[in-house]
Amino acid sequence: MSDLVRISMSLENSLLENFDEYVENQGYPTRSEAIKALMRQSLSEQAWTQNQLVAGSVTLVYDHHRQGIVKRLMDVQHDFGAVIVSTQHVHLDHHHCLEIIVVKGKASLIRELVGVFKSMKGVKHNSPVMVSVGKSLA
Ligand code: NI
Repeated sequence: MSDLVRISMSLENSLLENFDEYVENQGYPTRSEAIKALMRQSLSEQAWTQNQLVAGSVTLVYDHHRQGIVKRLMDVQHDFGAVIVSTQHVHLDHHHCLEIIVVKGKASLIRELVGVFKSMKGVKHNSPVMVSVGKSLA
């Protein structure tokens, strides 16, 4: 476990009041936990934009009756096999499928994969969630 350090900071009272309200609304047990979560989120966003190693998921919803979409999605997933760890498929209703694609790899390649899904007609929902991998998780 990493060593804990204590820091202090100066900020406007109104900002602290707003933040404390946020901490309570979000259900964090303490300010420290809220700040740590926000720091990790910022580091993940940095990893995502700076082409570092990331992991996460891409959630898709699509109408499987649309001509050719199932084959196209399968072809794309084979093309990006280097970053796709696993896929979970749920038959939502008569028309719609939900797919959760777990990914891990260089952010640029995963961004490219998300872009390909975005360009596909029939994909109604395309939602990536990325976290950084490595020392920023400390
Ligand atoms: Ni299905």
